[in-house]
Amino acid sequence: MLTDKFGRQINYLRLAIVDRCNLRCTYCMPEEGLTWIKQNELMTDEEMVRLCSVFTSLGIDKIRITGGEPFVRKNSIELIEKISQLEGLTDISLTTNGLLTEPYIPQLKKCGIRSVNLSLDTLDEERFFTITRRKGFNKVMKTLDSLLRHGIRVKINAVVMEKQNIEDIIPLVLLTRELPVDVRFIEEMPFNGNKDIETSLSWNHQKIYTYIREHFPDLIKTEDPKSSTSYHYKVPGFTGEVGIIAAYTRSFCGDCNRIRITPAGLLRNCLYEGAGINLKDELRSGKTDEELKNIIISSIQHKPKDGWEAEKQTMNASQIHQSMATIGG
Ligand code: GTP
Ligand code: 5AD
Ligand code: SF4
Repeated sequence: MLTDKFGRQINYLRLAIVDRCNLRCTYCMPEEGLTWIKQNELMTDEEMVRLCSVFTSLGIDKIRITGGEPFVRKNSIELIEKISQLEGLTDISLTTNGLLTEPYIPQLKKCGIRSVNLSLDTLDEERFFTITRRKGFNKVMKTLDSLLRHGIRVKINAVVMEKQNIEDIIPLVLLTRELPVDVRFIEEMPFNGNKDIETSLSWNHQKIYTYIREHFPDLIKTEDPKSSTSYHYKVPGFTGEVGIIAAYTRSFCGDCNRIRITPAGLLRNCLYEGAGINLKDELRSGKTDEELKNIIISSIQHKPKDGWEAEKQTMNASQIHQSMATIGG
């Protein structure tokens, strides 16, 4: 098992397979998009599968495929299929915006994907367009419906933003009444690939919680699984749960079990850490699996104790802030 110098066991890899996206969510990237990774800098399918197999041999048993939008990558379903077959993997999951996802759902099911995190900030078509700057709301709703019909567990991610989707909070909670979905409200983080960021947060965990509680006074706290990013709640009698991801106000670092790989092969020990080791370059220079393992083991030792606290100290509104699409969420 991979263990860092603070004794945290790392068993969860978040693999961003592409940085591009077919939406332009205002909290994630500017209208013009980002400086996309060049084709030859992007890892090939073979490189991604090989890296994942090195990680599973080191004790990684959970891989989440992220992006950008994973299905914007060519032949992504074939790549997901290959990764899902790796020995030692007990949990493979996916975070998607749901626009291109629906036709692949039967194949995802066959790969053993039991859970999909779906980004959906609003249940209103017009607000969807304002937030994502693109059309596609109905496609996302079809994806949601089809995932549930295929028995795949769905967690909806909704970033909460003043003047943008506050009127969606209660309708999103009401989705959990009949449907077996969990809805997670996320504090907005300063990762929008832009210069103008708001370093103060308007809707924090407490405010979201109080707002929901006003409408559902019998809301109860349920157990938070270890290393979960969200605080779990439930309206008694409702089918699904409600979560709040205090991405801004809380540090997840204490029991963090995750590492990230960017589409260009950078190993990031922490969401907030700059460029780490480039594993793609190591692969391309002909390193053996054993050599790669040693590089990874020693890199993990640099995983910071509390990356978010360090980031908050240096965060400054005038610097360009990376996009979640480049980091892989
Ligand atoms: P699972 O626990 O596997 O369901 O993943 P998740 O909920 O972390 O994944 P998802 O891709 O749905 O991300 C949800 C939100 O949590 C996003 O806004 C992420 O950026 C945020 N998040 C994920 N990992 C971290 C982390 O290490 N630190 C912080 N602060 N936020 C994170
Ligand atoms: N703040 C909070 N969450 C974000 N996401 C993307 N950008 C941000 C941000 N700036 C979320 C998306 C997606 C998840 C992977 O990350 O909603 O569901
Ligand atoms: Fe695309 Fe997700 Fe970023 Fe929206 S938040 S632009 S869906 S990567």
